[in-house]
Amino acid sequence: MGKSSILSVFCIDTFEKLCYSSLHMLPSSTTREAYAKINLHLAVCAKREDGYHDLSTLFQLISLHDTIDVAIRPSTGFSCAVEGLDGCCLRGEDSMSRAARLWCGLAGVSAAVSIRCRKRIPVQAGLGGGSSDAAAVLCALQSLFPDRALDVDSLMDVGLAVGSDVPFFLFERTAAWARGRGEFLEPVETPSGYHVLVLMPRTFGVSTAQAFAALDSAPGRHSESWTASEVGKLFAEDCSSWPFYNDFACVVGHDELYAVLQAACDSKRDVFGSLTGSGSAWYAVSRDEAALDSIRSAAVAEFGDDISAFRAKMLCDHRCDDTL
Ligand code: C5P
Repeated sequence: MGKSSILSVFCIDTFEKLCYSSLHMLPSSTTREAYAKINLHLAVCAKREDGYHDLSTLFQLISLHDTIDVAIRPSTGFSCAVEGLDGCCLRGEDSMSRAARLWCGLAGVSAAVSIRCRKRIPVQAGLGGGSSDAAAVLCALQSLFPDRALDVDSLMDVGLAVGSDVPFFLFERTAAWARGRGEFLEPVETPSGYHVLVLMPRTFGVSTAQAFAALDSAPGRHSESWTASEVGKLFAEDCSSWPFYNDFACVVGHDELYAVLQAACDSKRDVFGSLTGSGSAWYAVSRDEAALDSIRSAAVAEFGDDISAFRAKMLCDHRCDDTL
């Protein structure tokens, strides 16, 4: 994968101000979309010596996204200010600040970085919002400092240091079969025409670290040994026959809520429903929009304000306007 391609793909510039710094003749700000992901399949293996777990997962980008503005000013030292996270993290400890700090350190750049995040992806949901935001910041810095841009391997290393899902968001495909912590990525083709309903419980979120710890004490798990090409063939079948599963489903708790959502999916033909990541968000995917509307109505009728619903589409690699 070439450096130019990684700069051009998933951190798409929606707007790049043609406002050039008089000192460096470089753009001083850029705006990027940071898309959410769902895990269509997620199998977790035993804990490794470094405390992480090897896993195999099918990542898929969806059109739900945050919007990230990144602006830079020349400075004698690094600083980073983030707006829009509403105190959800300790100052300087959010994924975007950590990504900017690591990138500037490795690239040898001294700059004052200002980030504004227009947040739409729910947090603690398993939708990868924090990881996608961090990847968007990394791609923004790569484009704002082209002479200092890291090579792809170094960029992926910085991404992995920020979080296990970040390499996927730096990868140049809408779907990928991932192993290791999530950094060994192979492209998988996204079938066209799938709509997504995301149902997000408002009354609780899930800590990823605690969910992995709960899995360690759960009874033995099954594991598959699919190759990326086998996964691609399964993915190309109609969603009603996907054999995908999520190991976190048995430890996430709140069984009554998820049982209702699963039953709503099972009552429809041609709908696949699952937890994403370690939760707490649940999704249903289908080519049949009416089926998703009816699941949404059933969930809202049952849980009212305890649940938020979002509609999205699965992104396809050609990223035609009609897929967004
Ligand atoms: O890498 P990330 O920051 O997303 O991971 C959060 C926590 O989830 C880690 O500290 C670890 O406890 C757990 N984790 C894991 N194995 C993975 C990914 C995450 O055990 N593959």
